[in-house]
Amino acid sequence: MAIDKTLYDRLGGKKTFIHVHKIFYDKVYAHPWLKKYFSDKPQEILENQQSDFMMQLMGGPKTYSGKTPKFAHQHMVITDELFELRSQLLSESIKKAGINDNLREEWLAADRALKQALVKTSEDKCVRAYPNQLILNFTK
Ligand code: HEM
Repeated sequence: MAIDKTLYDRLGGKKTFIHVHKIFYDKVYAHPWLKKYFSDKPQEILENQQSDFMMQLMGGPKTYSGKTPKFAHQHMVITDELFELRSQLLSESIKKAGINDNLREEWLAADRALKQALVKTSEDKCVRAYPNQLILNFTK
């Protein structure tokens, strides 16, 4: 029964994640506020890390070898507004890739599960991995 399949399978496997994340990061890297967080990060690397992470989260192959999201974002101020903006771009990207609304909602719910671990409203809630690491805190 289709319902027994993982979300990863129901989305059509790896090619769907590659497709959606290309559309998504094209938007992120073009967005006047979000792009500031990614200024020294190659887009292709982010696309691949995000695909590996989300595939694994949705029951696909375990190929993600990066940091936990909480650790990877611990030096970034990510406000509720910024998180919601990113969710909006992700939603548009999933739609543009031709995925139906039910699957889109499931994808967004999986993504949203990370929200609590990432949202920090001020620099004193951030943590540096090493003493002179820059705190990323950008306004619109
Ligand atoms: C507005 C919200 C977010 C911002 C501004 C943001 C920004 C970033 C940046 C700048 C990096 C590069 C970090 C580095 O290489 O040092 C990164 C990495 C990453 N992000 Fe996000 N992110 C956000 C939300 C999310 C969410 C919701 C997820 C997961 C669902 C996520 C998953 C990842 C992953 C898996 C990496 C790679 C981590 C690693 O291997 O080091 N991000 N993010």
